[in-house]
Amino acid sequence: MSDIFEQVQQTITAVQSEAPATAEALETFRIKYLGSKGVIKSIMEEMRNVPNERKREFGQLVNNLKQIAEEKHQQIKTALEASEANAAGSALDLTRPGEPLPLGARHPVSLTMNRIIKIFEKIGFVVADGPEVEHDWYNFTAMNTPEDHPARDMQDTFYVVDAPGMLLRTHTSNVQARVMTTRKPPIRIIAPGRVFRNETISARSHAQFHQIEGLYIDEGVSFADMKQTLYFFAQEMFGATKIRLRPSFFPFTEPSAEMDVWLGMETEETRRLTKNTGWLEILGCGMVDPQVLENCGIDSKTYSGFAFGMGIERQALRLFNIPDIRFLFENDVRFLSQFSGVI
Ligand code: PHE
Repeated sequence: MSDIFEQVQQTITAVQSEAPATAEALETFRIKYLGSKGVIKSIMEEMRNVPNERKREFGQLVNNLKQIAEEKHQQIKTALEASEANAAGSALDLTRPGEPLPLGARHPVSLTMNRIIKIFEKIGFVVADGPEVEHDWYNFTAMNTPEDHPARDMQDTFYVVDAPGMLLRTHTSNVQARVMTTRKPPIRIIAPGRVFRNETISARSHAQFHQIEGLYIDEGVSFADMKQTLYFFAQEMFGATKIRLRPSFFPFTEPSAEMDVWLGMETEETRRLTKNTGWLEILGCGMVDPQVLENCGIDSKTYSGFAFGMGIERQALRLFNIPDIRFLFENDVRFLSQFSGVI
């Protein structure tokens, strides 16, 4: 009779040493021990051969065995399920389409600048560059605006405290001086870039904005050349049929003018943009003052030329119907992403 007790004990040890590692092995384990024709069932059937006084003891031992087998089964089942879920999570599916990469958009200021550059490139202008943090000499003095000249008041800016004589350029005209001091005529450049002024920020003006400068120096360049060049630009950029030049003043050009383009007054938009005049003011221009040529080491007896400068932002507002200049500098992607796809 101790045999059967011994057999239960051995079965317990056997169950404890089992380690089914797959779902199939676990099922085999279940059938072997817990199945309706399994080991435990057949051990239970031995009950009738156990003497009455030991039946209770036997019952407890078999229950113990059954509990150990069931626990083992449950434990391994849970572990297998967990590792299966894990495997599914980390599985690399190379056939899945990738996460789409968000595509950026060109900034409306760049879009506008590029349009203007393209127009001047058609007639032989090349792009030149100059620094935003500039020496006083290139920004003002060389451009015929010496220290203490009242014209400096029109373009107040930010000065670099630790570097006397350095400032944030107030216009792209510094590139005129940069180019004229380093290259020989003929010179035919446009210079796009950021400029700064000590201005109160509002819907129409900002302390930083962009300009495009133009400069053409050669023998015998005349006011008529300037007029024709700017008329070409107005036609290409605005589809304008008329321009007008109004006398103006800049320290570095003589004579100087402001150019307006005719947009007409037919639509509500053109009336608003032109303040009910039909004319949109877009740039300042003039014949390069001989003193500026001399300041930069170019012989003003041999050479003459014209220059012009225009703001980009207002043209961008018009081109894309943007109501407030501040949108252009806030870097809000909800605003900027609206220009994706524009070229
Ligand atoms: N630099 C001038 C401005 O900022 C524009 C200008 C450029 C005028 C070149 C004449 C010639 O207002």
